[in-house]
Amino acid sequence: MEDKDFQYFIESVKKMTGIDLALYKEAQMKRRLTSLRLKRGYDTFARYFEAISKNQELFYEFLDRMTINVSEFFRNPGRWEVLENKILPRLAKMSPRLKCWSAACSTGEEPYTLSLILLRKNIEASLLATDIDEGALAKAKQGVYTERSLQDCPKDLLTKYFLKDSMSYRISDAVKQKVTFRKHNLLADSYDANFDLIICRNVMIYFTEEAKHELYQKFSRALKPGGVLFVGSTEQIFQPAQYQFETEDTFFYRKMG
Ligand SMILES: C[S@@+](CC[C@H](N)C(=O)[O-])C[C@H]1O[C@@H](n2cnc3c(N)ncnc32)[C@H](O)[C@@H]1O
Repeated sequence: MEDKDFQYFIESVKKMTGIDLALYKEAQMKRRLTSLRLKRGYDTFARYFEAISKNQELFYEFLDRMTINVSEFFRNPGRWEVLENKILPRLAKMSPRLKCWSAACSTGEEPYTLSLILLRKNIEASLLATDIDEGALAKAKQGVYTERSLQDCPKDLLTKYFLKDSMSYRISDAVKQKVTFRKHNLLADSYDANFDLIICRNVMIYFTEEAKHELYQKFSRALKPGGVLFVGSTEQIFQPAQYQFETEDTFFYRKMG
């Protein structure tokens, strides 16, 4: 009964929004949504769906809970050092203007981190940043952050590219201008091609094995030969060769060919 109720919810959300919750790990997703549903006083998912389909505030709250937007600048700093000192110099030799994509970019910390590095290295690039969550994208476009999300940002970059207000840091236009934000559902929308670098971190952990498998294939197709997929620090790819990837460094996969 309880399971049917949740399945009905999954189907209804898919019909209404195109978002397929069945491609997310079920136990995790169900736990998060059950606690939110109970907090709002709905005893079944069927009643909760009826409510979110009529009330925009409840709908956005549901989206917020399912997407988890936690991010920070230079998340896992050691990996960004590898990107800056090993991966990007090789890629820059391959093409005069790099084509980069930060997929599931949340509130912008990740694409802006890349933008800061590209400025420091004086590397020409286009930078697409996408997420399923419009609220997160709106925050990203504002470019205003708290000290906490900037803990690992190198001090020289902080001084040079951020304006400090009393409570927050505003990112400069030089960093912003390099990034184009767009709404995109990794599980449903088509992917652009010919990327030199795709960064997709800390979202795959929420997806089922089948969904992950398909996404790695799509990322591989979206990369140029020699291009790189940069993944999160708990997201090592099992048998990368099945996707025509070879490991260039820990959490960096180079497309073969
Ligand atoms: C934990 S954040 C990761 C942010 C950033 N990549 C990082 O590592 O700091 C996960 C992001 O994935 C996004 N997301 C979840 N499902 C998605 C989907 N199907 N397509 C695109 N983005 C998705 C969420 O909206 C959220 O902003």
